[in-house]
Order: sequence, then C-alpha cells, then structure tokens
Amino acid sequence: MANKNIRSLSSRKELEDNLFENIADLSQRNASTEEFQKLAKRFMVDDSVVVGTSSFYDFTREENRNKKIHVCNGTACMVAKTQDNLNKNLENYFSKDEIGHAACVGHCHTNQAFMFDNKTFSVSNKKELATIISEKTYKKNAYNIGCNTTPILTSKIENTTEFYALAEKFKNNPQQVIEEIKTSNLRGRGGAGFPFWFKLDAVLKEPFNSAQDNTQKYIVCNADEGDPGAYSDMYLMEHQAHKVLFGMYISGLTVGANTGVLYIRGEYPDSIRIVNDAIKKLKEKKLIGNFRFKIIRGQGSYVCGEETALLNSIEGLRPEVRVRPPYPAQYGLFGKPTVLSNVETFANIHWILENGGAEYAKLGTKQSTGTKLVSLDSFFNTPGIYEIEMGTPLKTVFEEYGKGLKSDIKAFQIGGPLGGIVPKHKVADLTLDFESLNENGFLLGHASVVSIPNNFPMIQFLEHLLEFTADESCGKCYPCRIGSFRGKELLQKAQKENYKVDKQLFNDLLETLEIGSLCALGGGVPLPIKNALQYFKDELKPFFTSN
Ligand SMILES: Cc1cc2nc3c(=O)[nH]c(=O)nc-3n(C[C@H](O)[C@H](O)[C@H](O)COP(=O)(O)O)c2cc1C
Ligand code: SF4
Repeated sequence: MANKNIRSLSSRKELEDNLFENIADLSQRNASTEEFQKLAKRFMVDDSVVVGTSSFYDFTREENRNKKIHVCNGTACMVAKTQDNLNKNLENYFSKDEIGHAACVGHCHTNQAFMFDNKTFSVSNKKELATIISEKTYKKNAYNIGCNTTPILTSKIENTTEFYALAEKFKNNPQQVIEEIKTSNLRGRGGAGFPFWFKLDAVLKEPFNSAQDNTQKYIVCNADEGDPGAYSDMYLMEHQAHKVLFGMYISGLTVGANTGVLYIRGEYPDSIRIVNDAIKKLKEKKLIGNFRFKIIRGQGSYVCGEETALLNSIEGLRPEVRVRPPYPAQYGLFGKPTVLSNVETFANIHWILENGGAEYAKLGTKQSTGTKLVSLDSFFNTPGIYEIEMGTPLKTVFEEYGKGLKSDIKAFQIGGPLGGIVPKHKVADLTLDFESLNENGFLLGHASVVSIPNNFPMIQFLEHLLEFTADESCGKCYPCRIGSFRGKELLQKAQKENYKVDKQLFNDLLETLEIGSLCALGGGVPLPIKNALQYFKDELKPFFTSN
C-alpha cells in the first residue's frame, strides 16, 4: 500500500514531468542535496524516496557521479581478459577515481570495451585509445550480421511510409491482430517465452473506467538488454528501429493505448540516439497519428530488465520487483493496464501482420516458431548477430555462422548470467529453441553466447555469477539478497584460503535461492551453477568437500 500511495504522488505528472528523469538529471549535474530535497518537495514525496532511487543505480549513486569513463565489466570482456590492461592504459588519462564501471556495453564481439563521452567504444591498441580520448573520435560499432532463413528481423525496410501503411489495414480490427499473432504462436523473446497474443488480449479486455482513474493504457518496450553477452536488442534498435516502433504502435492501436515507452539501457547511448531520430522522423512524416513515444534512459541496473522493477524504475521509485498478481496487464505503468514486452518480440509483429500468422508458424518448430537472433562473442571467428530459424542445430550456428572458434573453449554460457553453462560436447545435442535447451537442463534466454575458454577457471566464473547477482539484487527478498552474497563469499574463501565449501551447505543454498526467491534473478542463478557442478565436477572438486 505504501508504494501505491507513493506511486500516486510520484506519478502525478506521469511522463511529462518524470521523477526518474529528474533524479537522473540532478545526478548527472552532481547537484546539491538541497536540489534533491527541492525535487522531493515538488513531487510531494519524502526525501527518502528520492535518496532511495538515486542511491540504487550505478550512474546516479553519489560515489559514481564524478566518473568520466566507464569500463565494461560484462562477462564477455571478463573471459576475454582484456579489461585489466584497458584499465591500466586508461590511468594515463584519468585518475583511478574517475574510472567507473558499466555492466556490458554491447561490444561482446570485440571486447576491450568502455563508455566515454556518451558513446561506447572498443579499442585494439594504445594508439587507438589515445585518439579516442584526445579527439573523441567515434567509430561505429560494427559486427557481422547474417541470417539462415527467411529474414524477418534482418531484412531491410525499403520505404518507411509504406511500412507504416500496414497499420491502416489493422487499426480498427483488434481481434484480427490478436488472431494473427495467436496463429503465429509468437512467444516473448525476453527470456520467458510467454505467448504475446495473451498480453494484447488481456489489456484489450481491461475496461477504461474514469471512476477508478483507469483512463489510460500503456505499451512498454523492455530495451534494458542487461544480459552480458547479448547485443541483439541493440542491433534491432540501431538497425531496425522501425520494426520495433511499428510493433509498439500497432499494439497500442490494438489495445487502446496512445503511448509507447521505450526503456533503453543507459549503456546503449547510440541506441537511444538512433531510436530518438526514428521517432522524430515518424512525427515529421505524420505516420503515427496521435500516438506518442517516449524514451526513458536506464541508469545502470540489471534488475530493471525484470518487468515490474522496470515499471517502478520509470515511476521514479526504487526499482524493487513487485509481487504478482496483479500482472502488468492489469496494474502496470502508473498502475494502468500495460502491454510490456521485449524489443525482439515487438520487432516480429510487422512481418506477422504482413505475411499472416500461419506463414510465421511454418518457420521454426511447433512450439518455438519463427526466428531468433543469436549474439556470438569474440571467441568465434566471425562474431556477430545472426537471425536463425528456431530448431536449427546449435552446431550449425557455431560452425556455419560463427565459423568455429579462435581458441580452445570448454563451455558456453547461453542466455545471459541466468542461462545454462553448456559444456562443449553437449552443443551437438542441442537445437536453437526453447524446448531443446530446457529439456537438456539449459535455457534459451536471449540466445547470447559467451564462450568460456579452457584456461578460464570455472570456480572464478561461478564466483562472477554470484557476485553479479549480489551486486544487482534489488534486495526485496532475503534468499537472493543474502544468499547470493554468502555464495560469493564461500567461493572466494575457497580460492584464497585453505578452505573447502561444504557441498551439502552449498546445495542447500542453491535450493533456497531457487525456491525462495521472488523473481528469476535469485531464482535463476542456481541453474548455471548446477550445470557447472555437474559437467565440471573434476575441475571444481578441490574447492568442495566430498559429502
Ligand atoms: C533479473 C531479470 C532481468 C531481465 N532482463 C530482461 C531484459 O533485459 N530484457 C527483457 O526483455 N526481459 C528481461 N527480463 C524478462 C522480463 O521480466 C519480461 O519477462 C520480459 O520483458 C517480457 O517480454 P517478452 O514477453 O516479450 O519476453 C528479465 C527478467 C529478470 C528476472
Ligand atoms: S530474487 Fe533478488 S532481484 Fe528478485 S525480487 Fe528477490 S531480491 Fe529482488
């Protein structure tokens, strides 16, 4: 209830005068405490609400406000072992205190990545670094792009006006949109694979009710792509922005929402610029009637990718995960019915409506239809973004598209920090779809692939996963808040001291995380750890007791 009351105050001006944006703005200007207090007063909330929010995010936290450069500490850069050297070289230009960190800036195909001057870079040598720092020279983030089937997400849009004209055919026929999407069996690409039509149907059925202040509905695009190793949403925003925007627009027309919000992570400044330009063009060309788009810039937090934390974040509240039900379809942004989905999910919609849901369903497998973008990291000979028909053998993806590996790899983490650790020999058993990965004890997630080289200790990788979870936990439930921290401590101790982790205790900890966590951050991290304990038993044996 407390949150409901604060929400009604913090969101009085909803997106027009947004509390979260105001807090981010003050933090960026390193404003005084008095200015933060004034903001709280203006929104009629307690100072603690504003402090609670500003102290949460990497980029708004007081101790980080003087950072001039942010070095990527994502998993792909970590396993490539490029960042110590980068940090050292940066100390020639910045004091240690001015160098901050960012969790994955989406250069997993090259590494040595950082964010500077509101842009992201990767460098291959000291000279390049010097040029960037002194001249702020900007090089476009380039990577391979390919497709093994009918291109849905990677095809070129020839004419934007014609592309948006498709909306005319469907704008007064919400049931037809829902039917086509239902026939296509499009499932959410953000990780959980939830049927998209169901969200449209649920929000359409929510009545407008002015007595209960239900006069508005929202479309929210989850563009927080926090999984280190994933840069496919970044690809879509930077190369296919109109596919994403059209998907949101037609969803709005279908459910009766006139506003679409894109929550784009702050670590993707280029995506923000490009999507913003695309929105401007739409307005200039008058292609979307009264529909309005709004971009909210994330401020550095993985858990904000979780849908309800994301909603709280937009509202300027501390982004703790909400208890469900109610679901966003009933009680979403500012408490209003909301369709919230991932970038790639929205990007599929134009093709489905243009070609028909049945045509879409012919691609892929029965339960996993269509295509999936796969992000390959720098250990592949041709890293990049590949649009792959669901059901394709993973081996084919790695060999025909990634063109094999540059060095010896023992495993792959597929689907982000909560995705499974697939040992190299299991790749041959898997196909790229929800079911194959699930049935084999892994996860499709966002289909990012981070390679774990032979010489990277698995114990260190597991420590990284627990540290990541501990750092990013929203703190709402104690199994995750305390459990991830204790797990990290145990693995650190086992590496530094003459100490073995009690296996039974560790298994109990994983079970507590799995069944006692409110969301899939705490609940999901045991999966890759269990995979590693199963497949890398011998390597991990020295760190655990034998019971
Ligand atoms: C810790 C955590 C982080 C998440 N991060 C993302 C993310 O970055 N992008 C995303 O689309 N979904 C993310 N999700 C999943 C969302 O909660 C949600 O299921 C998804 O956005 C729904 O869209 P979809 O149905 O199109 O997949 C995350 C979930 C959790 C638990
Ligand atoms: S599992 Fe972690 S991130 Fe999720 S609600 Fe609990 S504390 Fe928050």
